[in-house]
Amino acid sequence: MTATPDPTSVAPDPASATPTSPHFVAATRAFYDAIAEDYAERFRDELAAKPLERAVLSAYAELVGAGGRVADLGCGPGRVTGFLGARGLDVCGLDLSESMLAVARRENPTIRFERGSMLELDFADGSLAGVVSFYSSIHTPVEKLPALFTEFHRVLAPGGHLLLAFQVGDEPRHFDRPWGHPVTLDFERRRPERMAELLTAAGFAVLWRTVREPVLAESTPHAFLIARRPTAPDV
Ligand SMILES: C[S@@+](CC[C@H](N)C(=O)[O-])C[C@H]1O[C@@H](n2cnc3c(N)ncnc32)[C@H](O)[C@@H]1O
Repeated sequence: MTATPDPTSVAPDPASATPTSPHFVAATRAFYDAIAEDYAERFRDELAAKPLERAVLSAYAELVGAGGRVADLGCGPGRVTGFLGARGLDVCGLDLSESMLAVARRENPTIRFERGSMLELDFADGSLAGVVSFYSSIHTPVEKLPALFTEFHRVLAPGGHLLLAFQVGDEPRHFDRPWGHPVTLDFERRRPERMAELLTAAGFAVLWRTVREPVLAESTPHAFLIARRPTAPDV
């Protein structure tokens, strides 16, 4: 992917936005529909080369507990969904992009994947032991993050755990024509301390936050936060 803006790239028409599908949602869906197969190819074996990510995900699986019902929100090709399923979680995946879901179903045939937006989840209040957002909140505008974290809090049972992963920084990275596809999208970078504040404001207790330095071809540090929806005595 190149970070150089390209005026020939095609962004979805803002006029196509609806109250349930605002412009940033339509743009995100179009971007990932275009690149799903290339993205899956690029990231299929990435966890194998990232022991710290595997450690975060394994610790998270242990915190949730075997058999815990978990939703991997913005699951993409399902690499994290599959990893958590193999660690005993009752995990399902959700994504905006039908092309990403097609890859995820093909590569994880025993796991259930559904189309939907993590801003409006079709899960009952308090019905999940875990919510995972691994590099998927990076396309949600900052002003929508309080609503996003409130939605995560709503669907988690008291005592349930949230895992967030995102790139650290202050400026978005703009991707144009990834792998030559005529699409464009901003990838937001965020400060872990600000994300922790927003999680706390949404009712979470932040248990753990860590930042690791860039590895492989990465250009920024990466952050991982684990937070819990408090049980009544914690409040
Ligand atoms: C950078 S990819 C990460 C995919 C996967 N979590 C991983 O780590 O490989 C971001 C994914 O989040 C999805 N996504 C972004 N915003 C979303 C939303 N509001 N609801 C559901 N999925 C979303 C995109 O479609 C895309 O598949």
